[in-house]
Amino acid sequence: MALKDIDFNGLKDKTVDAAKDMAGKVSVVVNDTVEKLKRRDIMTAPFMIEMIRTATNMYDHGWDERNGGNISLMVSEEEVAKYLDLTAVIREIPTGFDAPTLDGRYFLVTGTGKYFKNVQYAPDVNLGLIRVKDSGRTAELLWGYTDGGQFTSELPAHLMSHAARLAVDPDNRVVMHCHPGNLLAMTYVHSLDEKDFTRTLWQMCTECIVVFPEGVNVLPWMLCGTNSIGEATAEKMNTARLVVWSQHGIYGAGKDLDETFGLIETAEKAAEIYMKIAHLHIKNTITDDAMWQLADRFNLTPRSGYLKPRK
Ligand code: 13P
Ligand code: ZN
Repeated sequence: MALKDIDFNGLKDKTVDAAKDMAGKVSVVVNDTVEKLKRRDIMTAPFMIEMIRTATNMYDHGWDERNGGNISLMVSEEEVAKYLDLTAVIREIPTGFDAPTLDGRYFLVTGTGKYFKNVQYAPDVNLGLIRVKDSGRTAELLWGYTDGGQFTSELPAHLMSHAARLAVDPDNRVVMHCHPGNLLAMTYVHSLDEKDFTRTLWQMCTECIVVFPEGVNVLPWMLCGTNSIGEATAEKMNTARLVVWSQHGIYGAGKDLDETFGLIETAEKAAEIYMKIAHLHIKNTITDDAMWQLADRFNLTPRSGYLKPRK
């Protein structure tokens, strides 16, 4: 071919296009690498550290024998993005229920069949971080359950309770379930009427009415791990952050892990006092008048109709 036949302009355009294409590809790789380098180790995330500490503490309190109990902690997308690639879905897991208001929300959740005792030693096996989609029907796994496991069998009660509590309090982040011995024992010997149950707990420790002025709600024995108990628990969560599952355990909800742990801890302490004294001759108690004084002192509103009217 003669030199005059060569289309130098066309050649130049093609070379420029190829160079642009290459530059584009290089910049994608560079950006990806920069993003990866910017991402921090999820084991250093404050939400992860707090979750591991809380599960360990709950086990140490004797509330979570074997695989007993489960925790779900809602984490913001901004927080998750510091540690994980939000586009890297490991697998999708069907939930079996609807939770339309939770689409796009991220939760760190204990695994089903997993022991709280072991969370601190193998967090990636015993915990998983999921993102909810399809009106709650699918959970996208972004981290954890590395042995092929999945979220707690009580996910219906957890997510439905999150939805219920968020409607009441937009700052709610935690749902926690466990099997504290004294609360459980109390459901065998005490009336399950919510007002009676709450009043007894309030009377057992001065601080109880301050910590849970809305009282505790109570469910009768129901089959656990089902959508029905999930719906019933969520319904009870509309009016209180504590829901007793008779002959099984308790659910708590709150703004953070500390607050939720503290709620259950306080109710369990009250139940412990009750189980220590219920069979004895009671000579003194905390009167309703004293509880009104507490309500005034701490500026709180006890559950309507649960205390005798003020004198
Ligand atoms: P999971 O192991 O599925 O979390 O169940 C434990 C439990 O406490 C059931 O109520
Ligand atoms: Zn349980």
